[in-house]
Amino acid sequence: MNAPVLPSNTFVVDHPMIQHKLTLMRRSRTPANEFRLLLREISMLLAYEVTRDMPLEMIEIETPLTTMQAPVVAGKKLCLVSVLRAGGGILEGMLEILPAARVGHVGLYRDPVSLQAVEYYLKLPRDISERTAIVVDPMLATGNSAAAAVDQVKAAGCQSIKFVCLIAAPEGLKVFHDAHPDVPVYAAAVDSHLNDHGYIVPGIGDAGDRIFGTK
Ligand code: URA
Repeated sequence: MNAPVLPSNTFVVDHPMIQHKLTLMRRSRTPANEFRLLLREISMLLAYEVTRDMPLEMIEIETPLTTMQAPVVAGKKLCLVSVLRAGGGILEGMLEILPAARVGHVGLYRDPVSLQAVEYYLKLPRDISERTAIVVDPMLATGNSAAAAVDQVKAAGCQSIKFVCLIAAPEGLKVFHDAHPDVPVYAAAVDSHLNDHGYIVPGIGDAGDRIFGTK
């Protein structure tokens, strides 16, 4: 089968450590505690990649030996927006690398029949319009939840947004990019397709259930 043509602002982070850890996560016999740890580790690596283009500015500092001009991160501050409930698995790892980021939450569940996203909770920092938002959800499946979450972040006035997931489906990427062509997607993998129930194949199963051991 030919590999799907991905939207141009999709970034597959194919670092060997991420790919190795993702393989361990995919295995159905991996227990919830290991799954959570692996997701946290991958999320730290994804945080590193998604912040790669952050601007720097030079400041003067004193080392024990001399003064020097040294780089520090400049530009907009960050807000991580977690899509409940599985987004929490990525949020935890990202906060390890980006401890000063503010955090927002969007609660969405997927209607099992229509597969449309239904919102039940929203809490975003008041100053999100002045920040770069990184919206996180492990599975970009139909793309409906991801697009709905970004709708809310945009409605709150934020204009600089990125989306980070563990695995994306080609169908979901298309839906998402049709809705938000200005929002780049960072994923550890783009899998084959969605099944009839909207699950990503081969995927990892239900991310929330695997993180929290609820099945
Ligand atoms: N949500 C999940 O948790 N897994 C999928 O495969 C699709 C949506």
